[in-house]
Amino acid sequence: MNHEVRCFECERLVPDPYLDECPTCHGKLYVKMDLEGIKETSPQEFASRPLGVWRYAPLLPVERSKAVTLQEGGTPLYKCKTLAEKASIKEVFVKFEGANPTGSFKDRGMTVGVSRAVELGCKKVGCASTGNTSASLAAYAAKAGLGCIVLLPSGKVAVGKLAQAMFFGAKVVMLDGNFDDALNVVRELARQGHLYLLNSINPYRPEGQKTVAFEILDQLNHEVPDRIILPVGNAGNISAVHKALTEYAELGWINKVPKLTGIQASGSAPIVKAFRNGERDYRPEEHPETVATAIRIGNPVSGRKALKAIYDTDGTAIDVSDEEILAAQRMLGRMEGIGVEPASAASIAGLIKLRQMGEVDWDERVVCICTGHVLKDPETVIKSCEPIIQSKADAASVLKAIGG
Ligand code: F0G
Repeated sequence: MNHEVRCFECERLVPDPYLDECPTCHGKLYVKMDLEGIKETSPQEFASRPLGVWRYAPLLPVERSKAVTLQEGGTPLYKCKTLAEKASIKEVFVKFEGANPTGSFKDRGMTVGVSRAVELGCKKVGCASTGNTSASLAAYAAKAGLGCIVLLPSGKVAVGKLAQAMFFGAKVVMLDGNFDDALNVVRELARQGHLYLLNSINPYRPEGQKTVAFEILDQLNHEVPDRIILPVGNAGNISAVHKALTEYAELGWINKVPKLTGIQASGSAPIVKAFRNGERDYRPEEHPETVATAIRIGNPVSGRKALKAIYDTDGTAIDVSDEEILAAQRMLGRMEGIGVEPASAASIAGLIKLRQMGEVDWDERVVCICTGHVLKDPETVIKSCEPIIQSKADAASVLKAIGG
């Protein structure tokens, strides 16, 4: 085995594969990779394999030959000139995670998480979700032939995500409560042995998610960017990116680490509040609310890991309003042709705001991770665009209707 599972807080070994926290101190878990075996190699040696999650198999805790894969990862890194001008910054890239098989970054974690479930011989998997995790898990469970149960917050899941979870054959349960409630319930079901839990509290999930950082470095020819900006909900992704960078630094494959910058929606910003107060822990938000339903989370399970990621990399965290999120979403679509869902646009809104605040310098090289596809949430898009023009079916009427 090339890894072991340990407690993030007390570092104790946690050999029971079904626990979702440390039995001694209740800290969250993480996978400690044995990096000794690959110290002599270099990331350039991985380059003969296609860009994607499994290019980085030597840094993953599941064997590539046993992977349940839909060819996830390998997403575009767009250099965005117009956005750079708009944000008045020298260079900005968008890592478009909407190009993953189910349209979000969750597929990176799910290929590893579901592969682990199969390795353990589990027959049923489950998660709580604001939508994307459920869509992704449903697809990978289908591929692996596993039963799948997803718990969703009632009325707050974007229609594209809901359709995916149903389409891929998951049992979809809407709960009277928010994501945080749903996560508590699914953890309980997992503890009772009804399912294998595949939220990002499962330490194998972030292992797949960390590959987004490896890809960014490959795509930038290993010129480390100054900053990586990403939306924060349950805080799994920012912690995973931090882990990736820490491993590359430990291997001596990078000599600096980008400033990790987390963006939350104003109505749902426990990490930002903790960061502002210089705290290492956060207070849960009782009633999180935002148009960016993907990050409508008040009690982020990886919140402590996220704060460590931000402090350790000299990064920052700010919140953006729903209006700022929707404006950034539209701008990215209209100026760069990149369609992202509202939560993903938070990273763009965050960049613009941080530049206005003078917290990001003009000459920084910034990568914004945009986590999900615009088609995930068509209702929000339609509401925020100009109304559709109705016309009779002849050329003159159309010209009249569009104003010539
Ligand atoms: N962006 C999108 C599109 C998401 O779906 C999520 C999380 C995030 C950002 C935040 O990532 O939780 O790792 O900090 N979605 C989860 C879900 C919670 O259930 O789909 P995070």
